[in-house]
This record gives sequence, C-alpha cells and structure tokens, in this order.
Amino acid sequence: MLSDLGQLQGLSTLLKKCQKPVHDNEPTKSTQDNLTNQANETNQPHQTNQPSLQTHWNILGGGSNLVLPKVLHQPVLHIQLKGIHLLDDQGLQNDQSVIKADKSTFYRIRVAAGENWHDWVTFALNKGWYGLENLALIPGSVGAAPVQNIGAYGVEVAQFIESVDVWNIETEQLLTLSAQDCDFAYRNSRFKRAHYSNEIIVAVNFALPKAWQPVLTYQDLKPLAQRYLNPSESITPHDVYQLVCEVRQRKLPNPALIPNAGSFFQNPVVPHEQAQALKAQHPNLVCYPQADGTTKLAAGWLIDTCGWKGKRLGSVGMHANQALVLVNPDGGHYDDVMTLADAVRHDVQTLFGVALQIEPICWMPDSSTHHTA
Ligand code: EPU
Repeated sequence: MLSDLGQLQGLSTLLKKCQKPVHDNEPTKSTQDNLTNQANETNQPHQTNQPSLQTHWNILGGGSNLVLPKVLHQPVLHIQLKGIHLLDDQGLQNDQSVIKADKSTFYRIRVAAGENWHDWVTFALNKGWYGLENLALIPGSVGAAPVQNIGAYGVEVAQFIESVDVWNIETEQLLTLSAQDCDFAYRNSRFKRAHYSNEIIVAVNFALPKAWQPVLTYQDLKPLAQRYLNPSESITPHDVYQLVCEVRQRKLPNPALIPNAGSFFQNPVVPHEQAQALKAQHPNLVCYPQADGTTKLAAGWLIDTCGWKGKRLGSVGMHANQALVLVNPDGGHYDDVMTLADAVRHDVQTLFGVALQIEPICWMPDSSTHHTA
C-alpha cells in the first residue's frame, strides 16, 4: 500500500486534470469530488453516497501500444506521475538515493508510472543498476510496461518486477500487487486480460540483481556472446545497451517518424506436434521450442512468407524491414488498420492454419470495451 504523500497528491492532480472527457461526455461534479477528495485523504476504504465510478476509463501511458478510434466517447486518464526512488531492504524509500551496503542481493527501486521507459532504462544503467539493458529503446511509459509484459532480446520485464502499485477506481484503495498477482505471461498480464481494468498502475517496484548476468542468447546479440565467452575479453552492460539500441534502430521504424505500435501480432504458441508438421511442410519456418513443450512461431516469418512484407493496403502497410510491424505512414484510421490486420490474419490462417492474435490494445470506437484479440 502506498503512503507517500507526494505520490498521492500527484495522483489527485492527475485525476482532476484527466476527469475531462476527450469528446462530449461531461462527468458529473459529484464524480469529480469523489475522486479528488479520496486521493487527497488517506488510503482507508471510503464509504460514500456519491455515485460510484461506473464510467469506463481509458488509461493512457505513452500511447505507443494502442490503436485508437477516430473519436473517443470515454474519459481518458493520461498518467504523468514522476519519480524514481531507491528503496531499502524493507521496501522503504531512501530519499538520499545513496546505495546502502545492505545484505540484499537486489537493488529495489520504485519508479512512478509516468516515467518514460527508455529514460528509466538509461538512468538505471548510469546508476549501476543493471539488467534492463536488453529492453532499451522500447517506446512507452514505465506504467505501461507491466500491462503487456514488454519483452525484447531474450528478456521480459516481469523478470525484474517485484510488485506493482495500483489505485483501484472502484474501491478507491491503493494496493501493492505482487508479481504473482500480476499473472504475467508472454505479452500478457492481469492488466491486459481484464476486459475493462479498474486498476490504475501508479508505480512499478523493480528488483535488479546486484550481480549482473548478461542475457545474450538472442541471435542479434551473438557478437557480444562470443566476446563474453572469450576469457581474454570482457563486456559491460553498456555494450549490451548500445548493441540493442543499434539493432532496434536498424530493424524497427521509429514511431515518432513512422506511426506504428511495434509488433502488431503476438508470436503464436502452438503444440509441438503442430510445429513439427508445419516444419515438415515449410523447412525454413522460424520457431522456438518452449520449456512447457509448446513451440512459439515467428509471426514475422509467417507474414513475410505470405508476401506481406513491405506491402500496403490503402494508407497502411506491413513494414519493409520487419513484416510483424504494421505501419501507418499516411494517416490511416482504425478501420484501415483493422482491414489490413484481417487480411494478414486471413492469409496466415489459410497458408499455415495458425490464428494470429493482435498484440496492441485496441480502443474500440463508440464502445466501452477494449479489443485485444
Ligand atoms: N522474420 C522474418 N521476416 C520478417 C520478420 C522476421 O523472416 O519480416 C524472422 C526473422 O528472420 C527472425 C524471426 O522472424 O528469425 C524473429 O524476428 P525478430 O528477431 O525480429 O523478432 P520477433 O519475434 O519478430 C519479437 C518481439 C519484438 C522484439 C523482438 C526482439 C513479439 C510479438 N515481438 O519480435 O517486440 O523487439 O522479438 O526481441 O514478441 C513488440 O513487442 O512491439 C516488439 C517489437
């Protein structure tokens, strides 16, 4: 449970600011008061005669993993909470940010949800808190990272999350959810699974091991893996960070220049037997056997093999360097994006018998529901 006044005040300010709807759906004053007062007081359960918040809120982090409709009829909360605090072994805030010589084998750091993800990764690296370097340059905010359990180059953020602090809109309570409660899986979590989430992530509590262990299993990082295995050479977390940045800049379109939401589909996970049968038919199939006996297929390869790489449909298309990334260079709208997604899914289903799941969160037009499949 959070008790830090600064963060509560920040949350209160945020809610006051964000109560304003994007379109024409004015909230009632009582709803505003209800939210504002509670955030300023304590984190005790609060009984009120005010109408409870049944409004469906759209919670916006960095906006980089979203497909947006032309017009939104629900209010939007833009999370802008800031702050990075080193915690001591009891999980308490150490305001001097001095690294204590404690017995713990981890650095524990609480990062507010509105911090920029890449800036946090860079800050941690420069402080000597290592582990996140494989996740450099992923666009978006810290609060969004647990939602889809961001991952890249052999690392998932869930490996470094000890807990997540959330504010429950319905119960008006601040809660700390353990990593287990967050129910992390490949590009998934309790926050993404919820049809409509009434939990606002306000901070993420990281545990970064003091003993650095590089993860260099991914093909693109093999040059560093070779150096690492050579006793006469050494590598640093900065080397990994730099190579990851270079690879991403080479392969993936910069969302600030060419609008995109990263991978548009998840890599499908299929039974081992199905993967073997596909491999027999398509010897070049790229796939990764999983510890649980299933096999993950490279969706980029499936889409590429269907001929969609670099191909456009109207104003949108699949990226020329990475067929898994849907790009929107010419201001396409929700329907354009979904028409292309459906065409790609159709072809992959027809050729390989595999159903692709959309990876970003889609805010449906004129509806309170979110579509993630
Ligand atoms: N491939 C093709 N053609 C393509 C794209 C890929 O044949 O057009 C093949 C590649 O040759 C490679 C394999 O597919 O052998 C995998 O491609 P890549 O290494 O680019 O990774 P990915 O599985 O397509 C995942 C994540 C990315 C993450 C990279 C690197 C998902 C949905 N995507 O992509 O995450 O950056 O691995 O770790 O898991 C994101 O989630 O938005 C994202 C960009």
